[in-house]
Amino acid sequence: MNPLAILFATSEMAPWVKTGGLGDVAAALPAALRRAGHDIRVLLPAYPALKEAFPGAPVVAAIPALAPGLPTARLLAADSGGLPLLLLDCPELYERPGNPYLAADGHDWPDNGRRFGLLSRVAALLGQPASPLLWRVDVVHCNDWQTALAPAWLHYEGGAASVVTVHNIAFPGCFEAAMLGALDLPDSAWRFDGVEYHGQLSFLKAGLQLATRISTVSPTYAREIQDDSFGYGLAPLLRHRRDDLRGILNGIDTDIWNPAADPALVQGYAANRLAAKRANKLALQRELGLAEAADRPLFGVVSRLTEQKGLDLLLDIGAGLTALPAQLALLGSGDKAMEAGFMALAERFPGQIAVRLKFDEGLAHRIEAGADCFLMPSRFEPCGLNQMYSLRYGTPPLVRATGGLADTVVDTTAATLADKTANGFVVADLTPNALGETLERVARTWQDKRIWLRLQQNGMRRDFSWKSAAGQYIELYRDAIAAAH
Ligand code: ADP
Ligand code: GLC
Repeated sequence: MNPLAILFATSEMAPWVKTGGLGDVAAALPAALRRAGHDIRVLLPAYPALKEAFPGAPVVAAIPALAPGLPTARLLAADSGGLPLLLLDCPELYERPGNPYLAADGHDWPDNGRRFGLLSRVAALLGQPASPLLWRVDVVHCNDWQTALAPAWLHYEGGAASVVTVHNIAFPGCFEAAMLGALDLPDSAWRFDGVEYHGQLSFLKAGLQLATRISTVSPTYAREIQDDSFGYGLAPLLRHRRDDLRGILNGIDTDIWNPAADPALVQGYAANRLAAKRANKLALQRELGLAEAADRPLFGVVSRLTEQKGLDLLLDIGAGLTALPAQLALLGSGDKAMEAGFMALAERFPGQIAVRLKFDEGLAHRIEAGADCFLMPSRFEPCGLNQMYSLRYGTPPLVRATGGLADTVVDTTAATLADKTANGFVVADLTPNALGETLERVARTWQDKRIWLRLQQNGMRRDFSWKSAAGQYIELYRDAIAAAH
């Protein structure tokens, strides 16, 4: 079959700009599609980290002011290990320090509507006949609200087929109604079946309404977001479009997350050399100032600290965890009250609970390798990458059965041990009691080294590479292209 020309539009991409899993996906999925022979290029803002990484990037197009509220910009071309990047250069909007969405005070940048309006508008332009590039795009693939407005222009003005992937439906990207004119969308778009959402312009709603096809990052989340309790108000629309919606489970980058050859670790290991994992536990305890105890399980957390991740329950349990007895290594940042709560816990239990409030890629790898069990009791989890990293690192995860966690983690029971699918632990309810009981179950199971080894090996054997997901995206693109013509 003929290769496709795909524009992948994203607001973050590892290793340069990453606040969560979208950054990882935006690096690994396009690379997998490229390996499969497709002509894919990634469009993202030329943030300071990218300007630094590609200082001599040539200008390949000048972008005029496309709407009354949008500035002029330029497109720079860069190459990331064989993957072509299109960097949207607009210093006024993108050259700001730190997090791509938030100012230093923790609030959204007040002009995010213009910042991601421009990104969406340019993504659409590259899929239209007026594109300044000599490159005919078959499909524009948008990710989350930051690029989800692109399908609106493709729909109202014409252009390539479009796909919007929902990585997290909790962020609708809502702005005041005046943005309609500022972004030069037609007045006729202001409808319940257009871009309007409760009196505001919602980028995500626009994309879910107007994209040719929709996807999300796990089959279970695809079902959940059609339910009012998960859909953040968008469930009726998704039920209406259910035939156009797919759930495609993310993969992981098995080169970057490879316990046998991970430069961040003191010692590499594999499913048949698991004894070497112990050296990583000891090194992690030393690095974090935890007691060098081999007789108690070490729980690990690497996470954004938000309501979504359910870690407030862990705060509620606090002392109960050390009483198991067990240790905790937590790396994360976000909600200020949760940050303070975990710091207080670490101060109360020195040597047993270690907390690091920062973003640290290397430490994330060392926690995946050094912990015995990874904690992820999320309230909702579109896919989740960390539980897959944990499975691959022989660190059985404790999760709640939601979204991608339900699609990847199999609770340990007599039946799942017998059929060799057991690879972790599932907590039944979102209550401190249920979490406490499951932590106890983990600690007990961990004492049985034979069973624990089976869990580790079951998890490590599973194939999490991007190959299967890439194939499913190609099918979705072809379906969208056929539907758009
Ligand atoms: P989400 O995208 O909802 O945050 P995922 O599990 O899909 O959840 O992806 C989170 C990604 O961000 C993982 O690669 C994880 O290792 C990384 N991450 C989150 N917080 C930190 C942190 N404080 N330091 C380093 N990496 C982090
Ligand atoms: C979002 C979700 C997470 C998912 C990631 C990548 O940030 O919260 O579950 O793994 O996107 O798709």
